[in-house]
Amino acid sequence: MAKQAKSLISLQDVQRRVDTLPTLPEITTFVMNLLEDPDSSAQDVSNVIVRDASLSAQIMKLVNSAYFGLPQKIGDLNRAIALLGYGRIKNLVLSLSLIRVFRAISKKQREDFARFWEHSAVVAGLMKRVALRLGLEDPEQAFLTGLLHDVGKIAMLGYFPKEYGAVVKAAEEKKLSFAEAEGAVFSCGHAGIGAWMARSWNLPAEVAGAIERHHDEGAWDDDLLSAALYFADFAARSREAACAGSCGAARFDERAWTRLGLPQEDYFEMLSAVDSERAIADVILQVTGAAEKGAE
Ligand SMILES: [Fe+2]
Ligand SMILES: [Fe+2]
Repeated sequence: MAKQAKSLISLQDVQRRVDTLPTLPEITTFVMNLLEDPDSSAQDVSNVIVRDASLSAQIMKLVNSAYFGLPQKIGDLNRAIALLGYGRIKNLVLSLSLIRVFRAISKKQREDFARFWEHSAVVAGLMKRVALRLGLEDPEQAFLTGLLHDVGKIAMLGYFPKEYGAVVKAAEEKKLSFAEAEGAVFSCGHAGIGAWMARSWNLPAEVAGAIERHHDEGAWDDDLLSAALYFADFAARSREAACAGSCGAARFDERAWTRLGLPQEDYFEMLSAVDSERAIADVILQVTGAAEKGAE
C-alpha cells in the first residue's frame, strides 16, 4: 500500500505533463460570450459561425441530417437558425467546437474517445433539459457544464494513457466506477483535473465548481448546478451512456433529486431522454469524425 501511495499522480504532475493546454477555439469563446449577452441575437451567432468555414459546413451537414428530419434541404445558416432555434444552434456550435478540443487533447485514442464523447454530450443535453425545467436563467451554461464535466478524463487519456488504461482495467475487473478506481493511480482525480482545465480556460466559476464537485455526494446542498450535474451524470450512466471504465451499477444519492425539487415524473422523463440525446451525440461524432479523417 505504501509503495502504491508513493507513485500516485498529483495535480502538479498533470500540470507539468500537460505543459501547454490546447486553447479553446476562438469560436467557442465568442459563442460563450454571446450566451452571457442578453441582447445577442440569432444574427450575431450566424455572423460568428460564417467566419469558420469548416464549422459552417458541419452545422449545415448536421441540420440536414436525418436526425432533424427537416422536410427539405436547408441551404443557408440563417434559415437553419430560424428553423431549429437560436438555443439549439448555440448548443451545436459549442458541441462542434469542443469536440475538436477534446480530440486534440485525447490524441488518437478513438474508441475511448467515442464513449467519452457520447457520455459528455448526453449529460450536456440532460443538463439543458433539467435547467429548462428548473427555469434557470442560463440553460446554455448548464449545457456547457455537462459537456465539460469529465474533461479531466480526456487529459488522463491523452497525457497519461498507460495510467488511464490501468484505471479502466481496475474498474472493469473490480466492477467500480471510474471515480472509485482512479484513486489508486491519481491523487487528484478527473474532477480536480477538469476543474483546473476549466479555470485555465477562464470559464465561469460556477462551471468549474460544478465540475470539481460532480462526484462529491452532498456537495449540491447550496448549488443547483452541481445537483443537476450529479443527477444528469447518473441518468446517462444508468442508461448505458457511460465513459470507458465506468463499471458497476450506477449509484445515486436521492437527496440530489430532492434538492432539484422537480416532480417525480420529470425524473423518468429525463431517464428516457437519454436515447434521443445519444442520437444527436452520435451524429455529431460522425460529422466531425468524417471531417477529421478527410484532413488526415
Ligand atoms: Fe465524472
Ligand atoms: Fe460523467
